Amino acid sequence: MIQIGNAKVYQGEALNILGTLEDCSVDAILTDPPYSSGGISLGQKQRTTGAKYQSTDAKKRFPDFSGDSRDQRSFMAWATLWLAECYRVAKPGSVCMMFTDWRQLPTMSDALQAGGWQWRRIVIWDKPTARPSRGEFKNQCEFVLVGAKDKFAPVHERCLPGIFRQSIVSGSKRKHMTEKPVPLLRNLLEITAEGGTILDPFMGSGSTGQACLETARKFIGVEMSDEYFDIATERLSELTSWGCGPNRA
Ligand SMILES: C[S@@+](CC[C@H](N)C(=O)[O-])C[C@H]1O[C@@H](n2cnc3c(N)ncnc32)[C@H](O)[C@@H]1O
Repeated sequence: MIQIGNAKVYQGEALNILGTLEDCSVDAILTDPPYSSGGISLGQKQRTTGAKYQSTDAKKRFPDFSGDSRDQRSFMAWATLWLAECYRVAKPGSVCMMFTDWRQLPTMSDALQAGGWQWRRIVIWDKPTARPSRGEFKNQCEFVLVGAKDKFAPVHERCLPGIFRQSIVSGSKRKHMTEKPVPLLRNLLEITAEGGTILDPFMGSGSTGQACLETARKFIGVEMSDEYFDIATERLSELTSWGCGPNRA
């Protein structure tokens, strides 16, 4: 484990690391797990993540990541295992927010509930800059499944939107092939309290960690890939050295 300001980051397999965390110790889960998507048949899903999620004309190539080619039954079983561990680690009343796409929405809503969470709603990420599909509807949204541990305990009385329009991260700022934009993550964190601890067991390049540090929340992140773990630690270290978030002088 490496402590970077208010972030604790672990390199390893999510289930193994989750098993080391204490019961009822985090205030919310905000995560973007591998989707095991990118095609209808198992053969299509078992292509590399680069082949599935990067366009062939992309200027910058990102490292592939593993854990994204399970068949539906094993994906559901695996997601249930880690969601149940997140449930154990979360405080009663806290929320779990988890990204997914249209193909995996039914499976992930089942896994969320099988893991113990009470499914409360879906938030939509509207991606105006998504690639168009000739002769078809544009694949313009991803989903955030929202669950609660037992009885949801609101931390304020504001009414938050259910749809967020935010462009995909592009150009030299992009650090991960399936990166989630920090402004979107900051919007999602508004359902949590400042000063709370947010867990992301699949942190990739550390976008959730950045959003937490910038909004005065503590962060616990896990990442299995060496390359993405290094990218995330560098990103969070840079932020901390600039005096970002609660550490700011
Ligand atoms: C969809 S990406 C997350 C991207 C992240 N939201 C970002 O903005 O950079 C999922 C990440 O989970 C990691 N991963 C896959 N299986 C894992 C496992 N079993 N334990 C921990 N990390 C895993 C992958 O290496 C990948 O970086």
